[in-house]
Amino acid sequence: MRTITLINGDGIGPEISDAVVKIIDASGLKIDWEVQSAGADVMEQEGDPLPDRVSESVKKNKIALKAPVTTPVGKGFRSVNVRLRKELDLYANLRPCKSLPNVKTRFENVDLAVVRENTEDLYAGIERQVDNSTAESIKVITRSASERICKFAFDYAIKNNRKEVCAVTKANIMKLSDGLFLDSFRNVAKLYPEIKQREILVDNLCMQLVQNPNQFDVLVLPNLYGDIVSDLCAGLIGGLGVAQGANIGDNCAVFEPVHGSAPDIKGQNKANPTALLLSAIEMLGYIGETSYAKRIETALFKTFEQQKFTCDLGGNLSTTEFTDAVIKNLRT
Ligand code: NAI
Repeated sequence: MRTITLINGDGIGPEISDAVVKIIDASGLKIDWEVQSAGADVMEQEGDPLPDRVSESVKKNKIALKAPVTTPVGKGFRSVNVRLRKELDLYANLRPCKSLPNVKTRFENVDLAVVRENTEDLYAGIERQVDNSTAESIKVITRSASERICKFAFDYAIKNNRKEVCAVTKANIMKLSDGLFLDSFRNVAKLYPEIKQREILVDNLCMQLVQNPNQFDVLVLPNLYGDIVSDLCAGLIGGLGVAQGANIGDNCAVFEPVHGSAPDIKGQNKANPTALLLSAIEMLGYIGETSYAKRIETALFKTFEQQKFTCDLGGNLSTTEFTDAVIKNLRT
């Protein structure tokens, strides 16, 4: 039996984690979940919101499913999410965005994947106050990190039967930093002649995405553009309740939804478990459990086809009712 770390988070985290564990269990796949709590409550009990035991568990098991963890705004501890990504060198942020049956959005049949570099760019946190009226942030782009993320994007394309990888930059203006990212992309692309390559400027990409998202397949972007564009793409498929994600490194991978801990609906049995479930489905595919991944996805899509939704998608089902509906569809 495979052991997987489960970081069940806080806010709505425990509710949606319970739902997803129940659904996977009902599929017949046996997983030994190693539950690791993290976040504000753990900070109170153990003096650290991300005790070493959490990353040790992920390092040992190599795979984790993670529900959201609250980060206090402007005070308190550093983001558990950012720390975990740093400690485990999870350099690739992957967000597959695929239209879901009956989930009303502006476009149909969106099916693209955003691959975002997770470790550098303006998010390296190198900032200084020059004087009272001037501040500087330094944008760091390295060849090694750029080649690594571009390779990840092409390997993902091959593994998932995708046809094209498109590099997104602003290399016309930031000729050195984004220019280096683009040059790295071109070098890596030569190793993958079977995959089409494309280049686009980030401003044009945004305009094209909201007019005709179906033209895109895999996008690879430096950190800041990736952060913004991946939320735009989440909006194309129905928003936060259905947006899945993963943070992947060479040694470990953490699968997690895009959304946060939603304190406004905590404990109300209202949260949509779909984003965490889709992240879990991606995780099962990643570890080679493709038949279980497909079965669970089919049951989820069938639930949507039956017009069964939680309230964030205009339905009236509670978290537990929606979970039971997916489980019923797994069994029929
Ligand atoms: P949020 O994503 O938690 O919530 C934004 C809105 O979307 C809220 O109205 C919420 O009710 C709704 N929502 C989110 N997920 C939902 C779901 N599964 N089903 C139904 N409705 C859902 O963003 P917010 O409020 O900005 O952040 C809350 C906390 O989460 C913060 O402390 C933030 O730092 C943390 N956070 C954690 C993340 C992680 O652990 N990966 C990611 C993003 C935020």
